[in-house]
Amino acid sequence: MTAQQSSNGPLVHLTEEDLLSQLHQELLPRHVAIIMDGNGRWASLRGLPRIAGHREGLTALRVTLDTCYEVGIPIVTIYAFSQENWMRPKVEVRLLMNLLQEFLQLERQTFQDRRIRFLPIGRLDALPRSVQTLVYTVMEETQQFSDRVLAVALSYGARTEILDAVNQLLHDVQTGKLHDFPITEEVFQQYLATQNLPDPDLLIRTSGETRISNFLLWQIAYTELYFTTTLWPDFRRREVLLALLDYQKRERRFGRLSQHATSHPL
Ligand code: IPE
Ligand code: IPE
Ligand code: MG
Repeated sequence: MTAQQSSNGPLVHLTEEDLLSQLHQELLPRHVAIIMDGNGRWASLRGLPRIAGHREGLTALRVTLDTCYEVGIPIVTIYAFSQENWMRPKVEVRLLMNLLQEFLQLERQTFQDRRIRFLPIGRLDALPRSVQTLVYTVMEETQQFSDRVLAVALSYGARTEILDAVNQLLHDVQTGKLHDFPITEEVFQQYLATQNLPDPDLLIRTSGETRISNFLLWQIAYTELYFTTTLWPDFRRREVLLALLDYQKRERRFGRLSQHATSHPL
């Protein structure tokens, strides 16, 4: 049984509006990270080509982002394409790059209207030239926004991100730009692609896989994990609300004792 099935059992019969009414503003995550997985399986279950799953995944993404921003979550980070995904067949990679371009062209105006900062993270220089140009353009034209952030992991791998940070840090030491020793967590995270973003409070992975796949390894040290068997293209408003309600039930202890335990004698 998955975390979702076991803990959301009593909620599954409620309407979306009932679910919404159970959300507590003060218990909402500030930053949600999502591993959008299961597009290929969604398509193959329907006898469709994999790209049909990726395309439907874009609809799931729009609905998810709308829901997060609507309920008041200011930061969302999505895993759109991993460094390891370059090992997929060339034709699938090409189609994914085309979809990414299409998504950015369509959403550009929405980013402006809703004051969403688009922050790409990953080895962007590995992307095809035309995609890079669009990615940098949309990044620059939204960089003044601070109300909402959409971080998109593209050609992203967390180990590479950490190594890139270490190398840049060493370079800054050698050139005299950095001389604070020892290096603190605060200084180190400035060198990561996510820079000033707070760490994710909640990480959602769809499709039943219960692994991290090289995503945000530093940043998720104390993130709450939520796994659901729902395939990404089927992930809609209701699924987002269920994940948020599950998160709200958790007690984040960060190594301390439970609030209930502190009243007991040692
Ligand atoms: C996630 O869906 C999208 C990307 C990794 C780009 P998948 O394409 O991994 O779908 P499955 O896991 O094969 O079903
Ligand atoms: C993780 O999904 C990457 C993205 C969602 C972009 P994958 O489908 O590539 O992950 P693995 O290979 O199953 O771990
Ligand atoms: Mg997958």
